[in-house]
Amino acid sequence: MFGILGGSGLTSFAELEIDRREVVRTPWGEPSGPVTIGRIGGVPVAFLPRHGHGHTIPPHAINYRANLHALRTIGVEGVIAVASVGGVREDMQPGVIALPDQMLDYTWGRDSTYFDGPEHPVTHIDFTLPYDPALRAHMLAIARKVGHPLIDGGCYACMQGPRLETAAEINRVERDGADVVGMTLMPEAALARELELPYAALAVVVNHAAGRGDSKLAISTADIVRTLEVAMNNVRALIVSFVSETSKSPSA
Ligand code: HPA
Repeated sequence: MFGILGGSGLTSFAELEIDRREVVRTPWGEPSGPVTIGRIGGVPVAFLPRHGHGHTIPPHAINYRANLHALRTIGVEGVIAVASVGGVREDMQPGVIALPDQMLDYTWGRDSTYFDGPEHPVTHIDFTLPYDPALRAHMLAIARKVGHPLIDGGCYACMQGPRLETAAEINRVERDGADVVGMTLMPEAALARELELPYAALAVVVNHAAGRGDSKLAISTADIVRTLEVAMNNVRALIVSFVSETSKSPSA
């Protein structure tokens, strides 16, 4: 079963025919809410909005450990994470969807490992490629096959938030190699790796990063909300194609 972690603008999934909602208990506390389990084109899918069903949990307060653990507990074998981002690189314009292949982590104070005590001895996972290469390749192949625009690759910088960045911070992360900035894929991606759950992300550009684009002096929330709505419709369409095509030929 695929798991979908929804981000801002994706707190529900209209194309999912719901079978049930499951409250999953985990040793790591409460997930962001009940997991919605259903089918897309007949294929079982689990959906969990990481900010909660009513979008009430800010990025730094999300229980990432519980969320990933809950998905694995109910039988999820691969995770598609959806995250809204600000565009740093020139071609990461609002509305664009990217499939990042790298990551920079600027977050702090988040519970970022399952291996944190005597019962869970220290383990250093390999994280050279932070997203599952096979899942990425599969997503890209299906996007190309059905004609959904999707940028292949990019470095996602995870910021602490919840505020947006200063223009200088964006200049810094660009020097570091960032192409887009968001607030939620870390420690999520690392925890998925610790659980050996294949994980790939769809980064949806909803604004120019601070100091970029036409309005260099401020980022308009109204603009973000407008872009989000359109972009998330496209993301849902891409995920529907991904799930249905995968069920037709699992190694597409
Ligand atoms: N910065 C960080 N996170 C974001 C942004 C941004 O500009 N837009 C959406 N999530």
